[in-house]
Amino acid sequence: MGIEYFQILLFINFFFLSVALLVVYHYAYKLRSELRRSDNLRKIAEKFQALFHSTTDGVFQCNRTGRIIVINQAGGRMLGFNSPDEVVEGGYRVNKFLMNPLIQRSVVKKLLLGEKINNLVIEAKRIGGEMFFVEVSLNFCKYDDEKIVEGIFRDITRRIEIENQLRTYSERLEEMVKDKTREVIRLEKKKRQMESLASLGEMAATVVHEVRNPLSSIKISLTSLLKRKNLDKKDQLSLKLATEEMSYLEKVLQDLLNFSRPKDLKLIRQDINKVIVMTLGQLTQDFERANIKVKNDLAPEMPLVAMDMKSMHQVFLNILINAKQAIGRGGEITIHSEYNPNKDSVLIDIIDNGKGIDKKHFDKIFHPFFSTKKEGTGLGLAVVKRIIDAHGGSIDIESSIGEGTKVHLEFPVD
Ligand SMILES: Nc1ncnc2c1ncn2[C@@H]1O[C@H](COP(=O)(O)OP(=O)(O)OP(=O)(O)O)[C@@H](O)[C@H]1O
Ligand SMILES: [Mg+2]
Repeated sequence: MGIEYFQILLFINFFFLSVALLVVYHYAYKLRSELRRSDNLRKIAEKFQALFHSTTDGVFQCNRTGRIIVINQAGGRMLGFNSPDEVVEGGYRVNKFLMNPLIQRSVVKKLLLGEKINNLVIEAKRIGGEMFFVEVSLNFCKYDDEKIVEGIFRDITRRIEIENQLRTYSERLEEMVKDKTREVIRLEKKKRQMESLASLGEMAATVVHEVRNPLSSIKISLTSLLKRKNLDKKDQLSLKLATEEMSYLEKVLQDLLNFSRPKDLKLIRQDINKVIVMTLGQLTQDFERANIKVKNDLAPEMPLVAMDMKSMHQVFLNILINAKQAIGRGGEITIHSEYNPNKDSVLIDIIDNGKGIDKKHFDKIFHPFFSTKKEGTGLGLAVVKRIIDAHGGSIDIESSIGEGTKVHLEFPVD
């Protein structure tokens, strides 16, 4: 009996011990699995942490008040902090960075409506005050009843700079293309003009050639008729008028020839003052008769300019005759010349105090056959312009009615 009882007791003990061991084993097994799982979780968390901090974009989470609660290293740096902890511990709010209140309001409104903000480009401010451009994406989400805004942002200042540069380059390029197109159109127009002028020139030369000889025969006949003694006063007057008209016709023909047939320029380097003085000499008597005073203000020394003497003489003659005609009787013409070292060019101003040019005529005065004069062919300034262009020079005219006119010429020195 004593032994049986002992055996039963031993069995019971053994049974409970086994159960207890099983329970211990079960919990130990569970604990080990938990430990293994938490170790895995730790490893995963570490990997995500590394990934979170290694990305070059800024990544952050902020709470409902806008306070940043998590941020990666790139984000912290972009905001101007040394470490992400400084951002979080310093209580930095996103509204310091999303500065524009209008943008802030519309962003908050959209997020509350459950919309995502994708690639919004804004100007932001670093903690040191430096402005920079960011592209930001925001999303509103919930973690365990806590409402949080998640954001990703990227510094795109360099990209914007490059885009701006490209825009400036493309605008400049567009302007250059436009300029070149205008230039091509202008040259094309000039070419067509030259072609039609060349054929007009040929025609004019033929007409002048055909008309000139009979015209001089008529003029000779008229002059010899005028010398007859038995002419009455009326015939004499008619013949005189006819001779004058003939001279006018000769001038028109000569003008037409000058304008339509570009001369072969014989460019020889010479002093432009000499041509001016020579032309003034030719007109001295005309000026005296009309009581016009000429003020000579020519530079004592001028660099030599490559020019065709005859053509340049024509230029000054036409301009001075225009000045004389504008003055009528009693007035003043000033001729000024100087060297411009900045542009390496010579400048000539011919100023009269005549009646001036009406504003409405200004854009036409260089057109061939435009004239406000009874006996003008309107080719004077057209010829002047052609000769000046052929010398690579420029002409500008300033005038005010009742006060006078200033013709400004410029020729390059080479
Ligand atoms: N110095 C000036 N003062 C006032 N008007 C001027 C002057 N120079 C030119 N003009 C105006 O410009 C127009 C054109 O001048 P342009 O010399 O080409 O022709 P024109 O003098 O009329 O005739 P042409 O010279 O062929 O005999 C003139 O008719 C005149 O109206
Ligand atoms: Mg004229």
